[in-house]
Amino acid sequence: MVMGGAGFIGSHMVDALMKRGEEVCVLDNLSTGFLENIKHWIGSPNFTFIKGEASKIPTPEDYAPLKPIPIYDASKLACEALTIAYAVVSSFKKDRFI
Ligand SMILES: NC(=O)c1ccc[n+]([C@@H]2O[C@H](COP(=O)([O-])OP(=O)(O)OC[C@H]3O[C@@H](n4cnc5c(N)ncnc54)[C@H](O)[C@@H]3O)[C@@H](O)[C@H]2O)c1
Repeated sequence: MVMGGAGFIGSHMVDALMKRGEEVCVLDNLSTGFLENIKHWIGSPNFTFIKGEASKIPTPEDYAPLKPIPIYDASKLACEALTIAYAVVSSFKKDRFI
């Protein structure tokens, strides 16, 4: 990810990374940068541009149906899945764990 990748220095970094075949994501609020600086990469399969604030880094959960959940909820779901998987693998009845 290149923050400020539509700016002077950032866009040169983007050019160098793209020419190396890297997957590049630019995050820029276009406050002083220009899409013109990176327009030749827009549409490339390994290039993504996100117009946004560096102070709030978007995660895939921000633009996908799955919303972020608290760490407690995530670990609880993981424990339940592991418990059920263990029960199945060990041929235990599920109600032994409840
Ligand atoms: N150009 C130079 O010679 C030079 C020399 C020394 C230091 N620097 C420093 O390097 C940095 C980049 O310089 P540059 O010349 O490429 O500047 P630039 O203004 O061309 O690029 C900065 C980019 O960051 C983006 N940006 C700014 N705030 C943002 C935010 N909150 N969220 C997302 N994007 C944001 C702007 O839209 C712009 O595209 C600056 O901090 C500059 O002070 C530049």
